[in-house]
Amino acid sequence: MRRCLHLLKSAGLALLLLVPVACQQDMAAPPSYRPLDPSDFFADGRSARPLVPGTVPRGHLRLDAPLFFGRNHPGSRIWSEPINMIGTGFQAGGLSALVQRELQLAALQNDYVKEFPFPITQEVVEHGRNRFMIYCVVCHGTLGYGRDTIDRDGMRLPGGGAIVQRGYTPPPSFHIDRLRQAPVGHFFDVITNGYGSMPMYQQQIPPRDRWAIVAYIRALQLSQHFPRKELTPQMQNALNDSLAKQEAARKAAEEERSHRQSSARAAEEAGQ
Ligand code: HEC
Repeated sequence: MRRCLHLLKSAGLALLLLVPVACQQDMAAPPSYRPLDPSDFFADGRSARPLVPGTVPRGHLRLDAPLFFGRNHPGSRIWSEPINMIGTGFQAGGLSALVQRELQLAALQNDYVKEFPFPITQEVVEHGRNRFMIYCVVCHGTLGYGRDTIDRDGMRLPGGGAIVQRGYTPPPSFHIDRLRQAPVGHFFDVITNGYGSMPMYQQQIPPRDRWAIVAYIRALQLSQHFPRKELTPQMQNALNDSLAKQEAARKAAEEERSHRQSSARAAEEAGQ
């Protein structure tokens, strides 16, 4: 009997000891879900709740259409179907759908912004040059000619980037009339969404850096087509001098060549 009492006492003590422990455990392990646990509380059985429609992550509100899309109106482009789906367009819908889309896009060309959405300083252009040399030069080449060119003396001037030299589709030159007249928004759009066989760069290059690259492309275009009358008189003189020197050197080389040819002919005739 005494033994029984003793047992009961110790059992009671053990129970007493358990009470605060149980209480503590409740607070340390509340009934919460681990990632992707099923749930019988929500009708769809998922504990991970979908985002409320229209949710915008902090820092991702893009109401400024010119800055983020290069366009006056954000809705003027079918963002989920960029033009670089040309490859899949052929397989899926055939050519006519593609052509229609192109026409649609052409109609929207007017919506491209013609002005940069923030002031372009020397610093911005230099940053653009830095990004251009990382992301674009491999195909477009340092001056943006996109492929090798032949100068008027028949000399081959290397113009294409390393990837093009290895056989990638050569891009058009930035110095053709169409691209010199294209609004800045078009360049921004090409970087953002890709163009034909050119991949898109919206994941790699943030919007402001894309604009900096566009500013640098404008600088490249000017470097190859600067209106002479906008140079200062000193610059015009320097330019005329250097052009005259180039012309003189070219003439001298030509005379030298024809002189060598005629003396070779004379030597040949004398030998006969
Ligand atoms: C992998 C090679 C490659 C890279 C890298 C590349 N491009 Fe291109 N780009 C092309 C090709 C190819 C085309 C021509 C696409 C076509 O017409 O199908 C092109 C076309 C263009 C055009 C002309 C679009 C038009 O209206 O004809 C612009 C502008 C341009 N690229 C800018 C850029 C800029 C800026 C970068 C860097 C951010 C860049 N590209 C990086 C290959 C490249």
